[in-house]
Amino acid sequence: MTKTESLLKKYNNKPNYIIQILQDIQEEHNYLPKEVLHEVSRGLHIPLSKVYSIATFYNIFSLKPRGKHLITVCVGTACHVRGAQSIVNEFERRLGIKSKENTPDMEYTLDSVNCLGCCAIGPVVVSDGKFHGGFKTKDVEKLLGEKH
Ligand code: FES
Repeated sequence: MTKTESLLKKYNNKPNYIIQILQDIQEEHNYLPKEVLHEVSRGLHIPLSKVYSIATFYNIFSLKPRGKHLITVCVGTACHVRGAQSIVNEFERRLGIKSKENTPDMEYTLDSVNCLGCCAIGPVVVSDGKFHGGFKTKDVEKLLGEKH
């Protein structure tokens, strides 16, 4: 039995658990590998297109390989006017990558989004699911330091 098959078995191969199943897969791989989505489709007896439509609908899921730590900087208008771009620049400089890229050791993925829906506490940075409001450029070093 493959790893995916045992995972599906844990959820009794029930399509209603697809979100949890995809979450488990992403937790293991940090993204949703194509071949695993094929197995999910076969195992749950639902069309691959349906699996993909769920995987792309929720932005917690990624179809592209991601690093162990995901850092998302909000660059929406409210965060932008409070200096979000210089925060992005500082992450890029310290990690040696551009936004939307992974570090070569796959430790970090840097991402940016247009609004996280909490403009009042901007600029906002989300690091491994944790929201940091009132983020400043000087906080970049501290946040990266905590990951090591
Ligand atoms: S613009 Fe950044 S949270 Fe809305």
